[in-house]
Amino acid sequence: MHCVQHLYIHIPFCLQICPYCSFYKEIAGPGKADPLVDAIVREAELFGHNAMPRTIFIGGGTPSALSVSQLERLFFGLKAHLDFSGIEEFTLEMNPATVTSRKAALLRNHGINRVSMGVQTWDAALLETLGRVHDASQVRTSFQILREVGFTNINLDLIYGIPEQTLRQWEESIRETIALEPEHISAYCLTYEEDTDFFRRKVKGEFREDVENDAAFFECGAAWLAEGGYAQYEISNYARAGYACRHNMAYWEGGDYLGLGPSAWSTLGERRWQNVPDTAAYVRAINAGVRPLRNEELLTSKIRVAEKIAFGLRMNVGLPGNLLAAHPDLVAQLCAEGLLEQNGSRLCLTSRGRLLADEIASALME
Ligand SMILES: C[S@@+](CC[C@H](N)C(=O)[O-])C[C@H]1O[C@@H](n2cnc3c(N)ncnc32)[C@H](O)[C@@H]1O
Ligand code: SF4
Repeated sequence: MHCVQHLYIHIPFCLQICPYCSFYKEIAGPGKADPLVDAIVREAELFGHNAMPRTIFIGGGTPSALSVSQLERLFFGLKAHLDFSGIEEFTLEMNPATVTSRKAALLRNHGINRVSMGVQTWDAALLETLGRVHDASQVRTSFQILREVGFTNINLDLIYGIPEQTLRQWEESIRETIALEPEHISAYCLTYEEDTDFFRRKVKGEFREDVENDAAFFECGAAWLAEGGYAQYEISNYARAGYACRHNMAYWEGGDYLGLGPSAWSTLGERRWQNVPDTAAYVRAINAGVRPLRNEELLTSKIRVAEKIAFGLRMNVGLPGNLLAAHPDLVAQLCAEGLLEQNGSRLCLTSRGRLLADEIASALME
């Protein structure tokens, strides 16, 4: 097994399920989290012995839905089996409704140096549409708590393209977010994921996707964020200088990573696998000492190149031109149309090209 430098840990519990979300998650409830925490620690012990993480990302779900004692057990357990001496970035995802001073202080004491919090919107009616468990004032209070305990690298997530959202509301959300001065802002376009309530409502005709509207929100959002001092470095990600997320960058650049916990993906060399997206089945497998696999695939170099193209195009620095050497005519055409541009030896999307990133990536991957 390779020595892996990037570790992802999935905690699938949430206080409330948002109707647009397709991450593997379930409602937090008594008796569920302790066995999961123990199983993740055991997975690290059994299958994580070569990890020497430079970045760790604990995501979900809502990792901050774990109690202080569960989080403590998780960190002590992981440290007993993994070498934490080389960690540069250690992120934990939080929901604003789960932030307390005690929890935030515990995270700091255990070396977490980056927090990513889901805000989505500052508008009360839209928060309700999104089925969020918190209100806007809770975002402010939670952010304040995180600063007070010493977090100096905080990301806030926003969503645009929410049903009935106006451009004015989007601007307001961005302005309120910038006013808090986080180091990083993620701005995602709402996607109607299969198997979500929002998807079913779209099929019924209650909600409608509006590509032109989304494009306007994207362009205006990027401009307002730039004015506020946030440079776009990936289609949905903006940061103050020096605060791009290292974990995600490694992932987008095609680096190897190990995932622990139910539903987590891992990519190591030519292998990619996913753990079962089922907490009970995951815990059972780990307790029996077997890998909790859902599936495993062989990554051919063709797949890896295709992924480097798809992710590379989404980053503002683009990708090495030689990755597109097989498509000289298409590259020339995209450059002539003002969608792609040469930057030294790299090729990157123009701001107009970014609006068509998925279509361009599919054409270049054929
Ligand atoms: C795991 S959640 C973040 C932490 C916490 N669970 C929360 O929601 O506050 C990851 C982020 O993914 C984004 N997200 C989830 N589902 C989405 C969707 N269907 N479309 C766009 N963004 C989505 C949201 O911005 C969310 O904050
Ligand atoms: S968006 Fe966050 S809080 Fe909402 S269901 Fe998804 S993971 Fe849970």
